Order: sequence, then C-alpha cells, then structure tokens
Amino acid sequence: MKVLVVAGTGTGVGKTVVTAAIAAITRAAGRRVAVVKAAQTGVAPGEPADLAVVGRLSGVDDLHELARYPEPLAPETAARHAGTGSPGMGEIAAHVTALVGRDLVLIEGAGGLLVRFDEAGTTIADVAQVLGAAVLIVAGAGLGTLNVTALTAEAVRTRGLRCAGVVIGSWPDDPDITARANVTDLPVYARAPLVGALQEDSGRLWRQAFLRRARDGLAPSLGGSFNASRFAHKTARLRVEVSP
Ligand SMILES: Nc1ncnc2c1ncn2[C@@H]1O[C@H](COP(=O)(O)OP(=O)(O)OP(=O)(O)O)[C@@H](O)[C@H]1O
Ligand SMILES: [Mg+2]
Repeated sequence: MKVLVVAGTGTGVGKTVVTAAIAAITRAAGRRVAVVKAAQTGVAPGEPADLAVVGRLSGVDDLHELARYPEPLAPETAARHAGTGSPGMGEIAAHVTALVGRDLVLIEGAGGLLVRFDEAGTTIADVAQVLGAAVLIVAGAGLGTLNVTALTAEAVRTRGLRCAGVVIGSWPDDPDITARANVTDLPVYARAPLVGALQEDSGRLWRQAFLRRARDGLAPSLGGSFNASRFAHKTARLRVEVSP
C-alpha cells in the first residue's frame, strides 16, 4: 500500500482538487484508493466538506474524515475552541495503517505543512514521517508562491521526507506574467520537479471531464500525461506583447 500526503503551502491552494484528481486517475486505472482528511475545520456537522468534493469529482467513496470542528481554525486550535480533543499521531497513523487492501491512500493535510493537529504539536509532516509517505506540495500559481513553496520544500527535506514534487493547484485561464514566470521558477525554488498544474475551472467539471482534466494536469508519476517542459514552453508562448 502506497501512502501519499497531499500537503500545501497554505490553505485554499487546491489540495482538495489535486487530491480528487489523483484519486480519479487511480480509480479509473482500476486501483483501490482511499482518501483521508485527518481533521476538517470550518464546517458544521452534516455539511459537505473536502471529502464530499473528492467524492463528487472522482467517484471514490472510500473516504475517511477523522474529526470535524466548526471553527475555521487550525485543527488543534479548533478542537480547543470546541472543548474536545483532536486526532494526533497515534490515531491518524492507526487509521491509515488499518486501510489494508488499498493500493493507494491519499492523506490531505489541513492548511499548510506545519499546521498543528494536536497539543503534542503533530503536523502532517510528522504523519508522513511515521508512515514513510512521500509529500506532494500543492502550491499557488501567482505572486507570493515562490517563497512559501521554497519554505515548505525545505521543511520537507529537513525532515528527511521524500518530496513527490510540486503541483500548481489552480492554473489560471488567463495567466499573468507572474504565473507564467513561476512555471519555470517553482521547481528551482522547491528543488523538486513540477508534477502538475490543474486548470482553474477543473473543480467545477463533472466526472468524465474532470478525469480528462486530471490526466492532462498531472505528470506520469501521478498517473497523468502532464509534461512540465512542454507546459513551460506553452506558457512562455502565451506572452502578450504590451505596446509601449
Ligand atoms: N483547479 C481548480 N479548479 C476549480 N476550483 C479550484 C481549483 N483549485 C482550487 N479551486 C477552488 O479554490 C478553493 C480552494 O481550493 P481547495 O479547497 O482545493 O483548497 P485546499 O488547499 O484544499 O484548502 P483547505 O486548506 O481548506 O483544505 C475551492 O473553492 C476550490 O473549489
Ligand atoms: Mg482542502
């Protein structure tokens, strides 16, 4: 069983959509895939959250949300506000380890890599370490992404974790000069390959169209056909000449 931690440079960068894309490709290949969201914050009981998005987009129904808190805070803080405990290393690792029979388990983090899950300070990086999982970094496309991507990748390396590469979670239909330049710079800052870029409307597609988009937007290492140098070449050609 392979375990992949889908971590982000922060919240709202597209971890859920990227997780759904990998899940969709894996499912379509006839492989058994489970998706784990260790702690979901900012949603009320019964409300659809990240795993509902993953299920809708990918068709995968082997979904595991270990805890949920109403406040849109980091899990440890949200649990404190709710006056309850939160799943730490033991519970998360035990749950994932019990998912025997799956070919792939995807674990979506909460917010960025070093967000705390419990009072002991467990992070999704610690979870990756204990489970021997590689870490995929989902990054933004635009201004400000280079530094946070470099910091996240450095934290991954410092912990001796394997980095599965960087995916741009949401690639704009009309990329500005920053986004286009970032295609070249992101792998340099991360010291890891660019292994995908998902078009910004992907999360609104229905299942078959989403699967095609997932294959186009993710590299062969994630089951798709994305080619980083072709993508860089294509985006460079998008450059619009600005008249003086
Ligand atoms: N490729 C995409 N296509 C369509 N929508 C996207 C895409 N990437 C991100 N979004 C939208 O941007 C928002 C944030 O994306 P997403 O929920 O995947 O982020 P996240 O990193 O999982 O955040 P969180 O830390 O809350 O889990 C969502 O509303 C999502 O629908
Ligand atoms: Mg999410």
